[in-house]
Amino acid sequence: MRRVRYEHSGGPEVLFTEDVPVPSPGPGELLVRVEAAGVTLPVVRKVREDRDPIPLGGEIAGEVVAVGGDVRGYAPGDRVTGPCFGHGYAEFALLRAVMASHVPDGASAVDAVALVRSGLVAYGALDAAGHAPGEAALITAAAGGVGHLALQLARLRGAARVVGAVSGAGAAGKAGLLRSLGADEVVTYDEETWGDPVDYVLDAVGGELLSPAVQALAPHGRLVAYSSGGGTIQAYDLLVGAKSVTGFQVGLIARERPGTYEAWRCELWRLYGAGALRPVVHAEFALGDAAKAHAVIEERSNLGKVVLIP
Ligand SMILES: NC(=O)c1ccc[n+]([C@@H]2O[C@H](COP(=O)([O-])OP(=O)(O)OC[C@H]3O[C@@H](n4cnc5c(N)ncnc54)[C@H](OP(=O)(O)O)[C@@H]3O)[C@@H](O)[C@H]2O)c1
Repeated sequence: MRRVRYEHSGGPEVLFTEDVPVPSPGPGELLVRVEAAGVTLPVVRKVREDRDPIPLGGEIAGEVVAVGGDVRGYAPGDRVTGPCFGHGYAEFALLRAVMASHVPDGASAVDAVALVRSGLVAYGALDAAGHAPGEAALITAAAGGVGHLALQLARLRGAARVVGAVSGAGAAGKAGLLRSLGADEVVTYDEETWGDPVDYVLDAVGGELLSPAVQALAPHGRLVAYSSGGGTIQAYDLLVGAKSVTGFQVGLIARERPGTYEAWRCELWRLYGAGALRPVVHAEFALGDAAKAHAVIEERSNLGKVVLIP
């Protein structure tokens, strides 16, 4: 089978495809013929920044072709999706059965990878914000794989005003998409103010954006930091206006609150099935074009999810 790998950190150009044997599922694992694999910023970032190469994983969706020992609830022929911690940019990949879920009839593999993992992050970030109907929300990287779902979920859960914030890269296209998904306003990061204060910010960018994100909050406003972008917040900026910051990590929820994780996942599929939540796919790339897929993320030009089709 073919898979994508790299040996030395760097930009998209370091990725290459190679032929390797199909892996065998161990205890608790599913062997999946991959129909779609998601490409995400954390993986793109690690390829460029980490010294040691990592398996190119992320979320995958496809058909179960074999199950390892101790697996219950899955059989060959089932269509599944889930986060893949090994090599996911591949024709076949291993998925931990406890992290997998069935893909409902009628849903495509591409929609599954665009919806579930990113949707769980979006749902969880909204939950961490303590969202209440009637509040105003601001979402950074709002056109990204997580952001565009967070924006729709805030709207669906009764936000009074939803602001999408994006970088200048392709801002006009992002604004069009976000308005079509229900944004009341779209701002770019470089604007002096981000409009009227909001009750909470879901931040996917971090770094230097944390300061304007805190400034965008109304008194008692809450910032949810869920980005791998790092950054620093001045305590004094929180004191003025009694604002608060909380972190969010979806993996922690999966490990510590599996019932909650499952409930969010069911709700995502329910909203999708009802036509209320729309995962947007920016582009589908062949496995051999993984470098092009990474380049789209690095250019910050994606409108929704970037997907590989092995
Ligand atoms: N906490 C968790 O559990 C968890 C889990 C998964 C992902 N995440 C985080 O969620 C964020 C979004 O992930 P995603 O998969 O939705 O992203 P994505 O679809 O891969 O899109 C990336 C988007 O993020 C924005 N961005 C912010 N900083 C960037 C940078 N340094 N380089 C390139 N793009 C940057 C860009 O939009 P703009 O140019 O408009 O800003 C870009 O279009 C990431 O920070 C990721 O680490 C968190």
